[in-house]
Amino acid sequence: MTGDTVGSVMFTQEEINARAAEIARDIERDLAGEQVVLVGILRGAVMWMVDMMKNVNLDMVIDFMAVSSYGSSTKSSGIVKIVKDLETDIKDKNVIIVEDIVDSGTTLKYLKEYLSGRGAKTVRISALLDKPAGRRVDVDVDYIGFTVDDRFIVGYGLDYDQRYRNLPYITYLDDDGE
Ligand code: IMP
Ligand code: MG
Repeated sequence: MTGDTVGSVMFTQEEINARAAEIARDIERDLAGEQVVLVGILRGAVMWMVDMMKNVNLDMVIDFMAVSSYGSSTKSSGIVKIVKDLETDIKDKNVIIVEDIVDSGTTLKYLKEYLSGRGAKTVRISALLDKPAGRRVDVDVDYIGFTVDDRFIVGYGLDYDQRYRNLPYITYLDDDGE
C-alpha cells in the first residue's frame, strides 16, 4: 500500500450511534438477568467499547486485553500474542469480547478459545466491523456493527501505522487518492 490519504466517509458518528443502540438491545435481550464482563481489545476497539458500555444496560464490569498480530503494515502475520492479559476473574461469567474488526478471524478465534479456557460461562463477540473477504479461519461473531468490503479501514479506533484512530467516523485508505 503506497497511498496514505483517507477516502470518503463510510459510516458517520450518527450511524454508528444508531447501530450501537440496536446491538445493545440484542445483547440485553440475550443476556437478561446475567452478569457480563465486557473485554475490550486494545487499541482498536476503544471507541466501540465505549459505545457498548454506554448502551448496554446490564450488570457489567469491564476489562481490557491487548494482543498483537499485526506489525505496522496492513498484512496479518497470523500469529496472536497476548501483550496485556485480563485482570478480572471471568470464571462462570458471560464474556463479550469487544473488537474493532474481524478480518482473517485469527485474533478472535484465538481469543474466544483462550477465554473459554479460563472458565467463562459464555463467550460472545461484538465487532464494530466485519470484512468477510479477509476471512481465513471460521469464527462465529454474534454482534456485527457493519459489514465492509475489501478495503483497509481506518477511523473510529482503527489505525494505519497508529494514525487515524481518533477520526470520529469510519473511512478507508485511498490508494489512488493524492
Ligand atoms: P484478524 O486477526 O486478521 O481478524 O485481524 C484483526 C485485527 O487486524 C484487528 O483487530 C485490526 O487491528 C487489524 N485489522 C484488520 N483489518 C483492518 C483494517 O481494515 N483496518 C485496520 N486494522 C485492521
Ligand atoms: Mg487491532
